[in-house]
Amino acid sequence: MPFSEDFLEELSRRNDIVDVVSGYVPLTKRSGANMFGLCPFHGEKTPSFSVNADKQIYHCFGCGKGGSVINFIMEIENLSFPDAVQFLARRAGMEVPEDTQDVNRGRRTRMLDLNREAARFFHARLMEDAGRAGQAYVDRRGIRSMVKPFGMGFAPDSWQSLTDAMTAKGYTRQELVDAGLCRVGKSGGLYDYFRNRLMFPVIDVRGNVIGFSGRILDDGEPKYLNSPDTLVYSKSHSLFALNLAKKSKSGYILLAEGNIDVVSLHQAGFDSAVASLGTSLTADQARLLARYTSQVIIAYDNDAAGQKAAQRAIGILQPLDLRINVVKIPGAKDPDEFIQANGPQAFRNLIERSGNQVEYRLEQTAAEYALDTDAGRVGYLRAAAKLIASLPGSVEREIYGLRAAEKAGVSPEAFKLEVERVRKQNAAAARKQRDREASAPLRAVQPQSRELRFENVRSAVAEEGVLNLLCRFPEQFGAVPLTAADFTSPVLGGLYEAVTERLRQGRSVSLAALGQQFGPDELTLLAKILQHDEISAPAAQQAMGDYINKIRAERDRATRGQDLRGYAEKLKQTKGYGS
Ligand code: CTP
Ligand code: MN
Repeated sequence: MPFSEDFLEELSRRNDIVDVVSGYVPLTKRSGANMFGLCPFHGEKTPSFSVNADKQIYHCFGCGKGGSVINFIMEIENLSFPDAVQFLARRAGMEVPEDTQDVNRGRRTRMLDLNREAARFFHARLMEDAGRAGQAYVDRRGIRSMVKPFGMGFAPDSWQSLTDAMTAKGYTRQELVDAGLCRVGKSGGLYDYFRNRLMFPVIDVRGNVIGFSGRILDDGEPKYLNSPDTLVYSKSHSLFALNLAKKSKSGYILLAEGNIDVVSLHQAGFDSAVASLGTSLTADQARLLARYTSQVIIAYDNDAAGQKAAQRAIGILQPLDLRINVVKIPGAKDPDEFIQANGPQAFRNLIERSGNQVEYRLEQTAAEYALDTDAGRVGYLRAAAKLIASLPGSVEREIYGLRAAEKAGVSPEAFKLEVERVRKQNAAAARKQRDREASAPLRAVQPQSRELRFENVRSAVAEEGVLNLLCRFPEQFGAVPLTAADFTSPVLGGLYEAVTERLRQGRSVSLAALGQQFGPDELTLLAKILQHDEISAPAAQQAMGDYINKIRAERDRATRGQDLRGYAEKLKQTKGYGS
């Protein structure tokens, strides 16, 4: 175990979860021991994100995320467990014990060194005579001046050149494969993963080379080859060129689709362009963006796929309270093609004329209805009112309401009434949902993670109940007459084992301490279980007895079922029927 338990306990004590969370989320409502605020992990307008000071856990009734203060920092700051621990240690002015530091640190540094060496290797291949194919491509795309700033390179058309060069530098087979640079061939030998491609290193905000994208030089497939996710690289958490864009003084970040678009935009002076790497924008990438800017200008491709991706990106960016604009690119398929044809100034004009996301979506909505018919106008009015009702600011609702009313051909007052109606509806639905979830009796809902799904929900309800009571009232219970094997859910059984083991040793049960033993999915589940406090201390003994009986009854039912099935099988065989 990398960190000692004492250290983690101390770390959690010194980083009160309410304090830490308040730094990110205003906790505006209180209900019992819970404080509520708007969930930072999913878009919502009424608070369903709760923090419990007694238990030092958070839980969102909306999206189901939850855990300890360490999980919260991992999630919101995009950090690994050890890095989140470092982060909180620094916050509390604590020293992280040297000898218990992250076991993966060594491997991670080696991989980053290897990636840097590989990037140097590719870059050198592009610059030398043998790299003519790569140079010709760069020239054809007109992006030569960006080769240096982006550290672009060329992967030779050969099976072993990188493998040989990196092996000569002392990197092992395993290291080359783990970094996603080489693959193991049928004969057991290594071969280069990237061949005959223009190489774009992916560099994080600290300047580490974390992965690569390689573009094919002709029309072959696949057009791009990307590094797999590794110890140092997660595509869904990274943005291409954010290392450069974060230094921009433009006050916004331009979000494009393609690597080439980004390079071309930087060359044209738009030094804040980034792209999400081969995936459509993820919530993690959006949060990363929000750390560096308060305005995102989307400049996706002009085709239907690009427009759809833009709509999706808006939905992901909107909860983060960013100003969002969308550039429309007339007469070209993407920003690169537009700039190559019309020059930087023309693109700057497009940016200046870019509509904000509300205008963009209202326009898209208008295009869906035939506004010269009554039915079309009614349809538009409904859809536009729904959109405008979702805007948090009353000024925005007023302004866009006026425009939409005019477009729908109704009075501003009538439109406003419709918007208010939708808002009331939304608020009531959200309130109902929250009340239902907050006051639900202890009941197993399937865990968020698919891998953890319960086989027997009836038993799982009781298993969760046992865990809840054990953690909340440990002093009330001696040895509970159950073993992990009595649990139908392996994950609940595992948690039970860990919790009882700790209690046996007279130690406290804290999510922070369990954080090393279990992954985020398990901890989210445990946080959800601990959140329930419907059963009070005086009722705990009785409830525990009921849970234990329930678990046993379910187990008996299951074995009886098996015995009966076995019996039926035997009958069939002896009597000779069936297949
Ligand atoms: N992409 C990918 N794998 C593919 C195709 C695309 O990972 N087979 C990702 C790449 O990150 C690429 C982005 O999707 O940059 C957008 O694709 P596209 O618009 O085709 O890429 P461009 O860089 O604009 O390429 P080009 O202008 O050369 O066609
Ligand atoms: Mn493109």
